Amino acid sequence: NNESVSTNKKRETFSSGLAVFFATLGSAVGLGNIWKFPYLVGENGGGAFVLIYFLSILLVGMPIMVSEFYIGRKSRSNAVSAFTKLKANPKWKIIGYFGVAAAFLIMFYYSAVAGWVYSYVFKAINGAFSNLSNFSFEQATSIVENQFLTTTESLYSPIIWQGISILVVALILIGGVKNGIERITKTLMPVLFILLIISCIRALTLPGAKAGFNFLFKIDFSKINPSVILSALGLAFFKLSLGMGTMITYGSYFTEDNNLIHTSAKVALSDTFVSLLAGVAIFPVVFTFGMKPNSGPSLLFNTIPLVFSHIPFGNILIIAFFILASIAATTASLSMAEVPIAFITEKWNIKRKYSVIIVSLSTFIVGALTVHPSSILGHVTIFGKNFFDLFDYISSNIILPVGGLLIAIFVGYFVNKDSVLDELSNNHKLNNSKTITIYYFVLKYISPLLLLIVFLNSLGII
Ligand code: PHE
Repeated sequence: NNESVSTNKKRETFSSGLAVFFATLGSAVGLGNIWKFPYLVGENGGGAFVLIYFLSILLVGMPIMVSEFYIGRKSRSNAVSAFTKLKANPKWKIIGYFGVAAAFLIMFYYSAVAGWVYSYVFKAINGAFSNLSNFSFEQATSIVENQFLTTTESLYSPIIWQGISILVVALILIGGVKNGIERITKTLMPVLFILLIISCIRALTLPGAKAGFNFLFKIDFSKINPSVILSALGLAFFKLSLGMGTMITYGSYFTEDNNLIHTSAKVALSDTFVSLLAGVAIFPVVFTFGMKPNSGPSLLFNTIPLVFSHIPFGNILIIAFFILASIAATTASLSMAEVPIAFITEKWNIKRKYSVIIVSLSTFIVGALTVHPSSILGHVTIFGKNFFDLFDYISSNIILPVGGLLIAIFVGYFVNKDSVLDELSNNHKLNNSKTITIYYFVLKYISPLLLLIVFLNSLGII
C-alpha cells in the first residue's frame, strides 16, 4: 500500500490530485528550468525572449497540455494506441511515432547534461568550489570555466557520468520504485525551490544585480525575430514536456475527478516560476563577474558556483543544489524514457525490463558517440551544428511543435466537441463551462494558427 498510486481493476491511476500535480510537475521541472531556460534567454537577448516565452506558455503550451491530458485520460492508453482507442484514423498514430523519435533525440544529450550535473555533486563535495571567494572576480571566473571544460571535454569522464545518469534512470524504471521517487520528489522539490530563493536573494545583492535583472525583464522589441520566436516556442514545448506524448501517458493515469484545466495551469505556472527564479539567480552573476550572457550550455555551471561562494554555508548548500538538480533531471528523464519504453514493450510484446535495457543502451551508445566534444563524432557538424545542438534543434524546434500542432488539430477538429467538453468538465460535475469555452476557442483557433505562422515564417514562406 502506498501513498501515491492506487490500483483500480484494470489500470493504475494516481491516488490524489496532489499526486497528479507532483508527478506532472516532476516531468516538467528539470534541466530545462535551471540549465536551458537561462542560456536560451542569454542567447536570445533577454526580456523580449522571456515575454515571447510567456505568451507561448499561455496561448500554446497550456491548451496543448490540456489536450494531451484529454487524449490520455479519455483513452487510458499509451501515446500511440491512444489514437486507436479514441477511434481516430490510424494515421494519427504518427504523433506517437514522432514522440518516440523526439524522446530519443532529447535523451541523447539530456543524459549527457544530467551526467555533468551528477559530476558537479562530487566536485562540490571535493571542495572544487570551496575557496572561490578568496580570489578576484577574474580568477574565480577562470577557475569555474576550467572546471566546466574539464568536466565536459575530458576523454572518458563525461561519458562515464552520462552512463551513470542513464543507469540510474534505467534502474528506477526496472525496479519500479517510481512510487518511492514520487515521494522523494514531493519532499525535495520544495527544497530545490528554497535553495533557488536563497540564491536569488544573494544574486540580487551583487553589484551586477540591476544589470542582470534588467537583462531578464526589460523588453527590447528590436531583439524579436523569427528565430527568437521559434526558440521560445520550442522551449515552451520542451519545458512542459509537450508534443511527444509524455502528457498523454501521464494523463492516462489521472483520476476521474481531476480538473484537467486547473492542473495544467498550476503546473505551467509553477514551472515557469522555477525557471524565472533560476534566471534571477544566474544573470546578476553574469553581469557582476563580467561573463557573456550568450555563453550557451556552460552558463549554469559557470555561474551557480560563484553565487554559492558568496553565501554563508555556501560549500554545503552548493552540494545540496546539485543533488536536487540531479534529482530534477532524473525525474524528468523518467517521463521522457517512458514514451519509447511503453511503446516498445507493447509493440514488440516484450518484457518491460528488456525494453528498458534496449532504450537505455541505445541512448548511451548514440549519446556517448556523438554529444561530447571529445567523443568519436564529437566534432562532426551537420548544417553547421554539432550533434548536441542538432538533436536539440530537431526535437525542440521541429518535432515537438509539429507534434503539438497535430494534437491541437486533432482535438480541435477531429474529435467530437461534446466528448472534449464532457472530459474537461468531468461529465459536468465541475462548474467550469466558461473556462472551457475560452480554452476550446484558444485551442481550436489561436494555438494552431500561431504555430503555423511561426513555422511558415521560419521556413521563409511568409
Ligand atoms: N520538461 C523537462 C525539462 O524541462 C524535459 C522533458 C522534455 C521531459 C520532454 C519530458 C519530455 O527538463
